[in-house]
Formats: sequence, C-alpha cells, structure tokens
Amino acid sequence: FSLKNYNTFGIEAKAKSFVEVSNTSELAQILKEHQNEKLFILGGGSNMLLTQDIDALVIYVNLKGKSILKEDDDFVWVQGNAGENWHEFVLWNLDQNFGGIENMSLIPGNVGTTPIQNIGAYGAEIKDTMVSCEAMNIKTQEIVTFTNEQCKFGYRESIFKNEAKNQYVITSVVFRLTKKNHKINTSYGAIDGELAKHSISNPTIKDVSNAVITIRQSKLPDPKELGNSGSFFKNPIVPRAVYEKAHAQFPDMPHYTVGENEVKVPAGWLIEQAGFKGKRFGDAGVHTLQALVLVNYGNATGQEILNVSKDIQKTIFEKYGIAIEAEVNII
Ligand code: EPU
Repeated sequence: FSLKNYNTFGIEAKAKSFVEVSNTSELAQILKEHQNEKLFILGGGSNMLLTQDIDALVIYVNLKGKSILKEDDDFVWVQGNAGENWHEFVLWNLDQNFGGIENMSLIPGNVGTTPIQNIGAYGAEIKDTMVSCEAMNIKTQEIVTFTNEQCKFGYRESIFKNEAKNQYVITSVVFRLTKKNHKINTSYGAIDGELAKHSISNPTIKDVSNAVITIRQSKLPDPKELGNSGSFFKNPIVPRAVYEKAHAQFPDMPHYTVGENEVKVPAGWLIEQAGFKGKRFGDAGVHTLQALVLVNYGNATGQEILNVSKDIQKTIFEKYGIAIEAEVNII
C-alpha cells in the first residue's frame, strides 16, 4: 500500500498493510485483533519523513467530529476528534468567534497530532489553550485523559515524544477558547507589519488569522504543491556561553533569550548563512524562501532528504559549534 498521499513530504514508501479507522470502537477492535503485530499509527502525516517502507500495519486515524462541550460567560470548551484537519478546526472556531488558536492558522496536520509536538507559531502554542486530550492505550485499549500538565509540554515537546511514546493513540483534544475579551496576540513582529499594511489598528481574531495566513503563504510552501513537513529542524536552545562564542565570530547572529542561561538561535538563519537556502540536490532541496524547510521537488526519497539534513547539521556544527536537531520524526 503506497503512503505517498499520506505524508505531506510526498515520499513514496509502502506499508505492509493499511487500515483506516473512523471511530474509537473500530480503533479498539483493530488494536486488539493485531496486538501481536507491529503497528504504526498515522495521523495527518505532516511531521514525518519516511526513509523506508513500513514493515507494519499502518492504522490511519480518521476520527471525525467537533463539538462544544460546555461554556460559561467568557469561555467555551471545544473538542475536536483526532482526524479533524487542524486548519479547518481553527476556521470553524473563528466562524463562531472563539479565540485563542488564531495565531496557529494554516498549520498542516490534524487535531489529534497537535499535542505530540505542542505545535506553535507566531507567538502561540497548543499548550496555551489546550485543556486535555483523550488517548487510547495501545495495549489495553483503555481511554485515558491527559491534562495539560500531564502532557509535560515544552518547545515542540510533550510526554508523547518521550515517556509515553508509541503507547497511545490520541483520539480527541479539548481546548478552552475565549468568547469575548479575546487576547489578541500580535507580539510577533510580522503580524503587526501585515496588519499595518491593511491599516488595521484594532484587529479581530479573524484579522489576526488572515494576517498569519498571508505571512505563511508568503514563505512556507503549500504541501499540495511542493512536498514538505514545515520546519525540518527545531530552533536550537544553547547555553549562553556557546552562543557568545559563536556570536563573537558572527556578530549578526540573531537570538532570543530563554531563561537565564540559555538562548534560542533561529536555525533558519544558520542554514541560510551556511549557504544552503534554495540549494537543490536532485529532487531534495532547501526551500528558496525559508531555509528551515526542506522540500521534495517530486521524486526525492526519504533517504535523500535525510542526507541533505545531515549535511546541513554537520556544516552548521562545524561552522558555529551549534548542534541542530530534527523537528520532524524520521521513520
Ligand atoms: N531566518 C533566516 N533565514 C531563513 C529563515 C529564517 O535568516 O531562511 C531568520 C529570520 O530572519 C528570523 C528568524 O530566522 O530572524 C526566525 O524566522 P521565522 O520567523 O521565519 O521563524 P522560524 O524560527 O524559522 C518558527 C517555527 C515555525 C513557525 C514560525 C513562526 C520552529 C522550528 N519553527 O520558525 O513553525 O511558523 O517560527 O512562529 O520553531 C513548523 O514548526 O513547522 C513551523 C513552520
């Protein structure tokens, strides 16, 4: 079974077998029936690089549905099932004037995978509005709830990438969103710039969403047109001393303070300065407009893209003494 249409990188890789589940009882049944086999849980396929065929039963989690669980005067608790497309979920909330996730408009992928890497963009992260998520234990098929705190969120991190890795299938996620007095967050400079272009001084959540969509479309490739997985690397967080050493040599290096002794350096800058932006190696390449994004021009294999990423990591480490780590899951 070809997975080419099930990963946003558009990599041709085969699954030994494939099954789609559309509700939790089907999911439980499949997990039970195949408990002694190798399983591979697949959601939106927007954060992985397939470097080989999958010698397992691929379970495509396509649980649809979204609903309002409860509300009070100020807030609404909305639930999205795992297989809902994230951006459509954001728009559905915006249509009802529910605020808090507008800065994360147009992020590829499904609702159910958002907690795994605590998705974030333009000054917002899932952890700011997520209340809890439900997940099915792969071994016991029991559904358990993880509160926001139990998810142990960090920058592109959660329990699902660590202790709980490969043990659960997230089935739904609950967010607490604002009904009024929205916290408009334009702290990310580019949003203000985009709003100013349209002379918008008191933006609504819809205005913020539209600004984010415009910014993303201006530099991030649409996976439907050019295979990619968004940022391929995380922005490295390094001890201040490491940054200072590199900065002494490269005074233009941007950075953001993270706590007292650490700084975050934009990997896109490092990659661009190292000369990789827009470079193409066969069908694998570095995006022309955003160096943090690796792209598949058509028929690149996962291995070819992985090789480009390794070459970048090596060059950056040699040049700046900074190790950059992949953000996407390498399979
Ligand atoms: N930069 C360059 N050259 C580049 C790209 C970036 O010099 O080719 C510099 C920019 O000039 C800027 C800095 O790097 O000073 C940051 O760039 P940008 O605002 O484009 O954001 P990013 O750090 O590259 C992160 C997230 C994105 C998210 C944006 C906006 C990570 C790994 N990536 O990218 O998330 O959309 O911020 O908030 O944290 C994703 O995770 O897939 C993703 C797209």
